[in-house]
Amino acid sequence: MPSYDVIVIGAGPGGYVCAIRCAQLGMKVACVEGRETLGGTCLNVGCIPSKAMLHASHMLHEAEHNFADMGLKGKAPSVDWKQMLAYKETTIAQNTGGIEFLFKKNKVDWIKGWASIPEAGKVKVGDDIHEAKHIVIASGSEASSLPGVAVDEKTVVTSTGALELPKIPKKLVVIGAGVIGLELGSVYARLGAEVQVIEFLDHITPGMDAEIAKNFQRMLKKQGLNFTLGAAVQGVAVKGGKAKVTYKLRKDDSELVMDADTVLVATGRKPYTEGLGLDALGVEVSERGQIKTDGRYATNIKGIYAIGDAIDGPMLAHKAEDEGMAVAEGIAGQHPHVNYGVIPGVIYTHPEVANVGETEETLKEQGRAYKVGKFPFMGNARAKANFAGEGFVKILADKETDRILGAHIIGPMAGDLIHEICVAMEFGAAAEDLARTCHAHPTYSEAVREAALACGDGAIHA
Ligand code: NAI
Repeated sequence: MPSYDVIVIGAGPGGYVCAIRCAQLGMKVACVEGRETLGGTCLNVGCIPSKAMLHASHMLHEAEHNFADMGLKGKAPSVDWKQMLAYKETTIAQNTGGIEFLFKKNKVDWIKGWASIPEAGKVKVGDDIHEAKHIVIASGSEASSLPGVAVDEKTVVTSTGALELPKIPKKLVVIGAGVIGLELGSVYARLGAEVQVIEFLDHITPGMDAEIAKNFQRMLKKQGLNFTLGAAVQGVAVKGGKAKVTYKLRKDDSELVMDADTVLVATGRKPYTEGLGLDALGVEVSERGQIKTDGRYATNIKGIYAIGDAIDGPMLAHKAEDEGMAVAEGIAGQHPHVNYGVIPGVIYTHPEVANVGETEETLKEQGRAYKVGKFPFMGNARAKANFAGEGFVKILADKETDRILGAHIIGPMAGDLIHEICVAMEFGAAAEDLARTCHAHPTYSEAVREAALACGDGAIHA
C-alpha cells in the first residue's frame, strides 16, 4: 500500500477541496469515499439536485405567471415528472463527474469504500490499511429526525427522499421552517402540491434578521405555502402510504392532527461520524456529536484533523470548503485564516434570501449603535423589467464609523449580490466605500449601492 502525506475521509465540498489543495501544495494525497460518486451530500443529494428542481419549478412559475404579460403566448408547459427527475440526475452526474476529473488532474487517489481509523497514522478501508502522516475527517452530516417520527424515505422523507419522490404529492407537510423545508416546500408548491409547514418557533428561519424573515414568510404565503407556527410535532403515523402528523400548539397545549401524502422532516442535521472508530481512538466529541477541534482544525489526537459539518459552526458547503483549504494550508506550514464573521448564507427560493454578518437582533443584543440603509427592488429598473421588484436590500453599518457590520437581501439574485458586500466586509469597508463605487446600469447590484447610499445622505431612487 502506498503511504500518503494526507488521507482525507469524505469527498464532500470540505473533503474534496481539502484533497485538491493538499495536492496543489505538493503533498501526496488520497481521499476515501464510499458513495458511488464524489461530491458528498451537497452534489449527490443536497445543494446541487435541489437547485436543479428549484430552477425547473421556477421556470414553470415564470411560464404560468409572467409569460403572457411579456407577450409570450401559448399554453403553459405541463410537468413531465420523470423528465424533471432525469434532468436533476444529469445535473448531479455532470457535477460529480467534474470532481472525478479534478481528482485525476491533481493526482488525488480516490480510495473507494468506507474508512475507519484504527490508530493515528492509519486508515482502514475494507481489508486494506493505508498509512498517512495526517488524516482529515470530512465525513459531513446526516438528517436528524424527531422522536416519534420514523423516516422511511417513502411517505416520511428527509431531503434525500424528497428529491426522488415517485410522484408529486397532493399534500405535503413540511416539519421545520428552516432552509431545507422552505426550499423544497417551495419546489412542491410551484409544482402544484398543497404545502403545509409546521414550525416549532413563532417565526420562520431561526437566526435570520427578523424583518427579512417576516417579509420572506409573507412572500412564501403569497406563493401558496401555509404556515402553522408555534407548533411542536409530536409524531407521525403512517398507514397505507398516507400519514397523520400530530402536533401540539405551544400557546394552549392543544393537540391537533394533519393529514399528508408525504411528510418532509427538515428539523436540522447532525454530524455523521459513524464507523470511524472515534470512541476507541479517544477523539473528543461534543454533546451534539461534533468533533472538537482547535483553531487549526486539529483534534486532541495528534495528526488527526476535522472540518465541515462534522465540527462546530454553520452546516454550509462553502464553510466546509474554506476549512478544507485552511486545514491543507496549515498542514503545509502556511498560516491560513477563515473569517467566521463573513460567511454568507443563502436560501435559494424565489426570491432568494441572502445574509452576511450581524442582524439587527444581534446588534441590539451587543448594545452596538448602528444605522440601517434600505433600498427596495421596486426602485430598481432591471428588477421591474424582470418581474422581480419584490424585496429589498438592507445594510447595517456602525453608527459612528460607517463600517459595514451586516447585510440582508431578499430579492432577485440575492445569493450572488451578497458577495460584493462580503468582499467589502473582508476589507473592513464603510458603507460609503460601496456607495462611491460605480455600479453598472441597469443591474440588480445597483440596489446594493442604493442601500449603501441610504446609510449616508440617502438613496437616489427611493
Ligand atoms: P434548520 O436548522 O435550518 O431548520 C430546522 C427547523 O425545524 C427550525 O426552524 C426548528 O425550529 C424546526 N423544528 C425543530 N423541531 C421541530 C418540531 N418538533 N416541530 C416543528 N418544528 C421543529 O434545518 P434544515 O432546514 O433541516 O437544514 C439543515 C442544515 O442544512 C442547516 O444547517 C442548513 O443551513 C443546511 N442547508 C443549507 C442550505 C443552503 O445553504 N441553501 C440548503 C439546505 C440545507
